[in-house]
Order: sequence, then structure tokens, then C-alpha cells
Amino acid sequence: MITVADNGAFCLQGKDYTYAMYVNDSGFLQHAYYGKKIEVADLEYLIGHICSKFAPTKGGLNYDMQFDNMPSECGFYAHGDYREPSVIIERSDGAAMSRLRYVSHKVYGGAPTLAGLPHARKGGDTLAVTLKDDFSDATVILNYTVYDDLNVLVRNAQIVNVGKEEFTLKKAFSFCVDLPDSEFDIMRLCGRWAAERTPVTSPIKYGITRLQSLRGSSSHKINPFAAFLRANCAEESGECYGVQLMYSGSFALTAESSADGSLRIQGGVNDTAFGWTLRAGESFTSPQAALCYSDGGTGKMSRHYADFLRECVIDPRYVYKKRPIVVNNWEATYFDFDNEKLFPIIDEAAKLGIDTFVLDDGWFGKRDSDTSGLGDWTVNEKKLKGGLKTVIDRCKKHGLKFGLWFEPEMISEDSDLYRAHPDWAIGKDGVQPCRGRNQLVLDLTRSDVVDHIFAAVSDVLANNDISYVKWDFNRDLTEMFSRKLDRQGEFAHRYMLGVYSLAERLTTAFPDVFFEGCAGGGGRFDAGMLYYFPQIWTSDDTDAYERAKIQWGTSMCYPVSAMSCHVSACPNHQTGRTVSIDTRGAIASLGATGYELDLSKMTDDEKSAVKAQIGRYGAIAELVLKGDLYRLCDPFDGNWFCVMLVAKDKNQAYVVGERIHAVPCDLIKTIKLAGLDADKTYAIDGTDIVASGRALMTAGIVLPMLGDFGSFTWKLKQIENDK
Ligand code: GLA
Repeated sequence: MITVADNGAFCLQGKDYTYAMYVNDSGFLQHAYYGKKIEVADLEYLIGHICSKFAPTKGGLNYDMQFDNMPSECGFYAHGDYREPSVIIERSDGAAMSRLRYVSHKVYGGAPTLAGLPHARKGGDTLAVTLKDDFSDATVILNYTVYDDLNVLVRNAQIVNVGKEEFTLKKAFSFCVDLPDSEFDIMRLCGRWAAERTPVTSPIKYGITRLQSLRGSSSHKINPFAAFLRANCAEESGECYGVQLMYSGSFALTAESSADGSLRIQGGVNDTAFGWTLRAGESFTSPQAALCYSDGGTGKMSRHYADFLRECVIDPRYVYKKRPIVVNNWEATYFDFDNEKLFPIIDEAAKLGIDTFVLDDGWFGKRDSDTSGLGDWTVNEKKLKGGLKTVIDRCKKHGLKFGLWFEPEMISEDSDLYRAHPDWAIGKDGVQPCRGRNQLVLDLTRSDVVDHIFAAVSDVLANNDISYVKWDFNRDLTEMFSRKLDRQGEFAHRYMLGVYSLAERLTTAFPDVFFEGCAGGGGRFDAGMLYYFPQIWTSDDTDAYERAKIQWGTSMCYPVSAMSCHVSACPNHQTGRTVSIDTRGAIASLGATGYELDLSKMTDDEKSAVKAQIGRYGAIAELVLKGDLYRLCDPFDGNWFCVMLVAKDKNQAYVVGERIHAVPCDLIKTIKLAGLDADKTYAIDGTDIVASGRALMTAGIVLPMLGDFGSFTWKLKQIENDK
């Protein structure tokens, strides 16, 4: 709900939070409050008593420099606010100072549609506040969308040239929040290939903490997300704020703790070497940021984000739809396959209850290794005699669907496409390009390149019975330069706009094809990609211990249904570790489950185990799609991993646990369940436990005795004899 109070303050109320701001006497939009819900009537006291201390509210514009501690909704540059600005507007003479003041506002039902960018698909209610720069012809429109039933606030900014002279944005962040104190720890999700999204927490100290990617992708190394944790914040208690960008390219999130103790949190498109020119009438739209307040610890924040992404961002055609259970041939064959190697996998898949076979890298062009073929999206008939049709027919014979891997954004130098269009690769003549996995990146800032890829991928999809696409991206960008672009400062963001436009066009043209995102494992796992692809390959690391940690970190701000989770062969190809098929299945059941191994080489016992896993998954698939996640035992901080999914109506739940090492003296460990209805009675499948939610959440359950990497899965069901 959005209310404009009698004193002119804007009161934005989500389900359990309030965000407030007001226009002070001199016309500056000041931040007033963000936190646990307070009422509109409270704003009079809040603004009159607390906020007036912070800013030049009196005396009109004849002020001394006083902006340094004014809580602002959009930081401006070179005019007395020495904190990091949110926008920098550089005119043709180089002047870049600005002073942004309120002009008007508008409240409407719904959410803004951001053409060409991922965005919240629905409102809520939106407040759009227009600020005008006193010194240039720029206006900045700040959009805020709130939801009565969600705890996320969506923000972005649009900068418009309302004059005649062009100017260049040297920075155009999406949002800025000035909190009154810096008493927080900051949690970020960082990592590397095969070890994505490890939560790392450190205290906020004086100065700037900057999380950023300059890779042209959100990256394995750091996710476009941060959480700000109060000292009392734990998994299920205490306060925290989350910020996440709905953006998949080079980004920055910054937290600046100032001398007065305040904290400026902001972020958006990375401003390093950024420059975006606006001519008369043109505008720049920044990506959306999703802010979240939780008074129930990081666990509640994660559930808020999961609800928001499922309800407002992920494609509604797929978000709650049963996901395909796939077998993917990558780790079974790598590049070395032909029909004879694929058919036994397909034949076995059908017997085990798998419903989709996904043919990974290597089916096209001259693709026998990672040195060639990218860009040539025509079938390699040397490997696949009879073309894709033969493989698809084999799938159909068994009632299986067929999926196919593409890496649309890439080009190999050894490819027909490169021989025809060497200038389509990103780079500058005379500069030696960096290769990543032996490949170059296509210049998606160019519409002719995007058109070509769209046509090539469409041709394959239109002429074959394909129900699933895995869209990969296996290297980061370097030499960011387009031979066709006038202003190279626009390159990184324009590349991302090219990716989004290709994704938009393909998912629109092929509405019945299910798209999975991927980036050398989980190198582009973000809300931007989730707008187009309902699930993303979480990591190339499928070792059931490492994967448990990766999925734990990923769940901080993404729903489990967004994570593709596969059972792979042992010894594991990334770690060499051998873990039971049961534990591999248990961890892979905590997401969109599937398989990634040569099914035909499994023992009979393993095949029976897989069949049973798929059967059991059917019973918990709804919980994965729609349930609430509770993280119970942190594998980064102890010898156990344990999480549970609880149905919204609290009638069912699913608990998965893994003991990391068999060490002495941690055998009698009690675990308290969470999220249940205290007054309901639950039976736990496969045990003789029947107990109230209250008892399970307070007294807990003694964990089973397990060896190294042993696991358990419990299905809880409410039983009818409730009082
Ligand atoms: C990436 C993906 C893998 C596989 C390979 C194919 O590494 O993460 O799953 O598709 O590419 O080259």
C-alpha cells in the first residue's frame, strides 16, 4: 500500500515492512525509514522529530554545505554530498555537478514494464517520484513497487534528457538507501567455478565495501546480492536487509559507512568505464533491484525472496509446473558420443522413470573438443547419423522428450561462422584477444548478430521436436569493444541487452520449450536470468557434499525450484569423492532433480535406487516448487547439512540431512524442525515418530547414526487426529 501522508511523506507498506521518505522544505527527497512495519500516523513524529535533524530542511537553498549526512534517495555528485553518488551526469563541457530535487510524483496500481530488461511482472502498487537536476537537463524518475502480500520492495531509476543538449551518464545506479547507522555485518555470496555462492560475512567498517563483477556476467565469483545483518541476526531470528539486482551483467553493489555512522547502500550497472549518452528526449532505464526486510533472520529473508521471485519474476507458465526429470549426457560421454553411445542411456532412462533426455555439448558443427564448432548450429552427422531426428525418434519410442544444449553467445575461431564473420567476435583489431575455453564471445551489442543467432537457433527448434533447451555461457567477456558501436562506454550494458533480447525472442517464439540457464555451471545464476529461464544449472560440481554447500548458499536469495540438481557418477568427476547413490539422490532432490551419468553403466542396485528416487521425488515435487525452505544445519559451520521444505498449508514437509564425516561424539545430535504448525500432529514416513509440530520444533528429533556422507530423507505428513 502506498500512502501520501498529510505532511507530504510517502509511506510505502509491504506485508510486514514500511519504507518512508519525504520532501523536505528545500525540495530534497529524504529517506526517513526502512524496517519493521509502522503506521502512516507514525510518520508525523518520525519526520518531525527524527528526520529533521539530518538535513537542510530550513532556509531554502541558501544553505551551507550540509548534504553529507542527509539521508537521500538518490545521491548526487559534486555538490556537498561526498558519499558515492548514485548518478553522474556529465555535460559536453565536462561539468558533472548536480542537485536533484523533487518535481512531482505519481501513484498507480501495477508495476512498471522495463522494455528489454527483466522486471517484476506484476504490481503491487507503484510510486514514481520525479526529481530534476537544478544544473542540467536531466530528470531522474525513481520507481518503487510494493506488494501487500510480499516483503520485497522493487526499485529502479530512469534518467531522462528533457533538454536539447546531449549529456553522458557516467554512473546510473538503480537504487540508493541511506540507513541511519552502520551497525551491520555484510553477507555476500562468493566463490569460483564448481564452488559458487559460498556465504561470507564480515563486519561493515568505515569506508566503502564494494561487491562487483567486471566480467560481463554476474559471475561465479560474486553474486549480485548482499545481506546486511544486525548483530542479533541468526538463521531464524533477528533483523536483516537483503538487496539483489535483477541483472546478469557487470554490476556493483556498494555499502558506504560514513563519519556520521550512516550507511549508504546502492548498486546497479557497474560504473567502471561506463558512459551512456542521452540525446534530447532519450532516457536510460536502470535494472531493477529487489530490496527485502526481514525480522526473522536470514531464513525469513530467503523465504521472502523465494516468494517474490516465484510470484513476480519467474515465467508464470512454468514456475509452478512439474519440471522435467532429465538425464543429461555431458558427464556420461563428454564430446565423445554417437548414436550407439546415446541409445543405451535413452533406453535405460525410460525404464527408470526419467522423462527427458538432454543432449549436451558436441552435437553440432565440427565439435569434437572445445576448440571448434561454436556458432555452427547444424547437426554433426558424423556423430549423429540420421541427424537429431534419429535420437529424437529413439526418445519418442520410449515416450521420452528431447532437450538440446546451445551456447548461443559464443563463437570458435575454428568455425564456419567465424570464417564468414570474424568481425562478429568481440574485440578490437590489432589487440590480441583473450580466449576462454578456447572460444571468443559474439558481439551481442549488434542487432545483426542477435538476428543471426535467433535465426540459427530457431531453425533447429522449429525443425525438430525439442521440448527443452540448456543455454550455456562458458567464458567471461574481455576486450569489451564493438566494431560497430560509437560509444564503447555503453558496451557492457548493451551486451546484456542483446542477451536479454535474444532470450526474450526465443522464449516468446517457442513458448512450449522449457529453457534452462547455465554458465560454466552456476556462473550466471541471478534474478535477471530467472526472468527468462525458470531454472538454472546450479554448478558443475555435483559431488553430494560440495553440492549441499552450493545449494545452501544459493538458497539465500533464490527458490530451490530454480536450482537444477543432478545425480552424477562416482568417483565424482570434480572431486574424486565417492558418495552413496542415496546421498546423491537426497541432495539432488532439493531442487529440479535429474541425472548426469551413463545410466546404462549403473549396477542393478543403483538402477533400483534411481527408480525409487524418482518415485519418491514425485511425492515431494510440489514442495520443491511451492514450499517454504528452512535451513536447519549449516554445512559451513559443523558436521551436518540439514534443510527442510514445508508446504504453505503446513500439512506436509520434507527434511533432508547429510552427515559430513563420521567423527566421534556427534552421534546424538538433536535437530529442531522448523516452520511446522505447532498444533498439528505429524507422522514421519519410514520412522515410528508421530508428534506434534510443537514437540518437533522444540524438543526436536535425534538424528540417525550415519557414516561419512550418509544421509536421510524424512517425509512428514499431517495426520487427521488433530485436536
Ligand atoms: C559447461 C556446463 C556443463 C556442460 C559443458 C559443456 O561447463 O556447465 O554442464 O554443458 O559446459 O561444454
